[in-house]
Amino acid sequence: MARIRLVPWWAAPVLLVLLAFATGCTRPERQPEVTDGDPELGKVAIQRYGCGTCHTIPGVPGAEGRSAQLLFGFADRADIARSAPNTYKNLVTWIQNPQKLDPSTRMPSLNVTEKDARDIATYLLTLRSE
Ligand code: HEC
Repeated sequence: MARIRLVPWWAAPVLLVLLAFATGCTRPERQPEVTDGDPELGKVAIQRYGCGTCHTIPGVPGAEGRSAQLLFGFADRADIARSAPNTYKNLVTWIQNPQKLDPSTRMPSLNVTEKDARDIATYLLTLRSE
C-alpha cells in the first residue's frame, strides 16, 4: 500500500546543509591528530629522502619541488591525495607505501622506514593553514 509522503526523502539532508551554512560551520576545524614521532627529526628525514624534489614543504630548506602538491597547511587537509582520510595512521602508510592506499598513484615508494615515516608524518601534521 502506498503511503503518502509528507516530507520528501531529501528534506533532512538539505535542511542540515542549510543549517550548516547558516551557522557558519561548513568547514569545521580539523581536530589535531595524535602523533608519536619527532617533528624535528621528520624535517631532517624529509631532506634525506628528497621529498622536496617533488613537493614544496614549508620549513624544510630546499624543499621547493613543484611537480606534486605543495604541502602548505597539510594538517588541515581532509584527505591524502583524494585516496584516504588524512589521519596519522594513513599518512604513515602513505609515506612508506603510497600504492597501498592508491594503487594508481604517481608518487613512488621511497623505502622509508617505519620510524622515519612516523617522524615525517608528525612533522607534516604540524603544518596548519594560516
Ligand atoms: C617523484 C616525486 C615525489 C616524491 C620524491 C615524493 N612525492 Fe609525495 N607525491 C607525489 C605525487 C605525484 C603525489 C600525488 C599523488 C596522487 O595524487 O595520486 C604525491 C602526494 C603526496 C602527499 C599527499 C598530498 C595531498 O595534497 O594530499 C603527501 C603527504 C606526500 N606526497 C608526501 C611525500 C613525502 C613525505 C615524501 C618523501 C618521503 C614524498 N611525498 C616524496 C610525488 C612525489
